[in-house]
Amino acid sequence: MRLPSVPQKVIVPPIKCQGIKTKLVPFIMQSIVWDGKGRWVEPFLGSGVVLFNVNPRNALIADTNPHIIAFYKGIYDGSITPALVRHHLETEGELLLKTYRTDRESHYYVIRERFNKNGDPLDFLFLSRSCFNGMIRFNKFGKFNVPFCRKPDRFRPAYITKIVNQVKAVKKIMHGKDWEFKVADWRDSLADVEATDFVYLDPPYIGRHTDYFSQWTDRDAEDLALAAQSLPGGFALSMWQENRYRVNSHLADCWSGNVVRTMSHFFHVGPTEALRNSIIEALVIKNGYETSLPDEIAEPDPRPVQLSIPLFKPEFQ
Ligand SMILES: C[S@@+](CC[C@H](N)C(=O)[O-])C[C@H]1O[C@@H](n2cnc3c(N)ncnc32)[C@H](O)[C@@H]1O
Repeated sequence: MRLPSVPQKVIVPPIKCQGIKTKLVPFIMQSIVWDGKGRWVEPFLGSGVVLFNVNPRNALIADTNPHIIAFYKGIYDGSITPALVRHHLETEGELLLKTYRTDRESHYYVIRERFNKNGDPLDFLFLSRSCFNGMIRFNKFGKFNVPFCRKPDRFRPAYITKIVNQVKAVKKIMHGKDWEFKVADWRDSLADVEATDFVYLDPPYIGRHTDYFSQWTDRDAEDLALAAQSLPGGFALSMWQENRYRVNSHLADCWSGNVVRTMSHFFHVGPTEALRNSIIEALVIKNGYETSLPDEIAEPDPRPVQLSIPLFKPEFQ
């Protein structure tokens, strides 16, 4: 697949994680220019939503979270099938519901403990889809520690079918592709990037609480900025730019000189509309790998460009 491209329908992945870019996928895919000849390199895979929608022929896919990589590698090599996913979620989902009356949430915690002992990718999927807010968080011993979402009938038939269909969609996309999966730190993934490759970077957010498998420090963010800007090929970086309380100074400090496109979106911090917050998300793109803006075509301007595309109109401020 070449970029820019407009996804007809955004593919939603079966695994959820903090910072998932589902809503930003069209914006990302329409902002980047890439001929698709080299590899799509994605060192911070997370849920995989960007990768699956870009749908590259060749890719290097990595994350420090071994469970994310094991799950998608399993679909890629055929050891995890939609039928196995259905069977697992039906069996464990039924037990979750059955035991709730007498043992409350205990079955969720049985699975969580089992996963923390043997790391079964299907248990990881079960937890990702029944934990609180779809969060992925581990304690300092590397043990998954997110509590239950408190919905005993979580795995209703329609919900299981939805997840199975998401696995089917991912499997279909992977078919016939030359994709390499790695559990790796980003430094390792960037080590052999070539001029024809395109690197999409979506590191954990600085200055916000992170709940990932590894910690993300200011130093990591600065090192990443230096390394990315010395790459031989193109890159794009997703990063929050501004919310109602603060501006992310890391963008100006470490990424100036590149093209910055922005999009604002809204998220809920609680159950009510009044708690809705907006955030401006930036896509920092290496010069020369950005799509043109309509007014640039009429009057070319070599300076870095700012664009704001509000996705949804706020009903409450
Ligand atoms: C913001 S999330 C990526 C979200 C993803 N783009 C999506 O849309 O779902 C950041 C990811 O980076 C991973 N990560 C954290 N530190 C890392 C490191 N040093 N090297 C590689 N991956 C890392 C986390 O495990 C997490 O999956």
